[in-house]
Amino acid sequence: MARVAIVTGGTRGIGEAISLALKDAGMIVAANYAGNEERAKAFTDRTGIKAYKWDVGDFAACQDGCQRVAEELGEVDVLVNNAGITRDGTMLKMSHDDWDEVMRVNLGGCFNMAKAVFPGMRSRKWGRIVNIGSINGQAGQYGQVNYAAAKSGIHGFTKALAQEGARAGVTVNAIAPGYIDTDMVAAVPADVLEKIVAKIPVGRLGKAEEIARGVAFLCAEDAGFVTGSTLSINGGQHMY
Ligand code: CAA
Repeated sequence: MARVAIVTGGTRGIGEAISLALKDAGMIVAANYAGNEERAKAFTDRTGIKAYKWDVGDFAACQDGCQRVAEELGEVDVLVNNAGITRDGTMLKMSHDDWDEVMRVNLGGCFNMAKAVFPGMRSRKWGRIVNIGSINGQAGQYGQVNYAAAKSGIHGFTKALAQEGARAGVTVNAIAPGYIDTDMVAAVPADVLEKIVAKIPVGRLGKAEEIARGVAFLCAEDAGFVTGSTLSINGGQHMY
């Protein structure tokens, strides 16, 4: 039986590439999205992958959304927590709302989604959870105390949940992307981005497909011994 996967933020950017990679790997994919109906519809028309709208920062919406996916596509075996937002600004300018919203969506979303699907994975003795962290959660980034804290939290969340899933066949891993050619990175002021790219040893931005490849690896049937790990895919920008 084909595995059923949910990819949050799965209709655009890195998430779109992940949805496609998991479909190519033979899975039935549900691509969650929060707001951009037009892009979601275009995505479904192009790929045949069903899109489901809910806010990952809303606990009840995650419960309902995951139940709907289970009823329509089957019990959820794979969760990719990819949905994320930025509200960049230096500490002096960052509002409490900018802090709260990034924590609610980026970190809260991981908890809300895992809470909805982890019990079923454990009882069926098989599951894959991949959380998309960030180089900026590992190394910090000027103007991103909110985003860096949330992404760093995702790395801790991953290692803790991995311990709870291990005996039950549920692996939990993270990927820490560097700067990838997406709308999110395109929003960084051009002069700032130029300086960042100059520090990437590979000499370019990454491609969404290069992250998706890592996710597909971590979700594979034979990846059961890989858990609690973080795979950095960043063109060599941060090594440790
Ligand atoms: N290190 C040291 N100083 C820095 C700096 C840095 N990295 N970046 C900026 N500064 C300094 C500037 O030189 C400037 O100094 P002066 O006042 O002495 O000239 C001061 O900080 C203010 O800089 P800005 O004019 O840029 O300030 P701003 O308020 O207009 O913008 C900012 C601040 C929003 C943080 C802007 O610099 C920015 O967008 N930076 C990029 C942040 C970033 O990398 N975001 C990543 C988004 S993509 C993503 O998050 C995906 C992922 O996972 C990788």
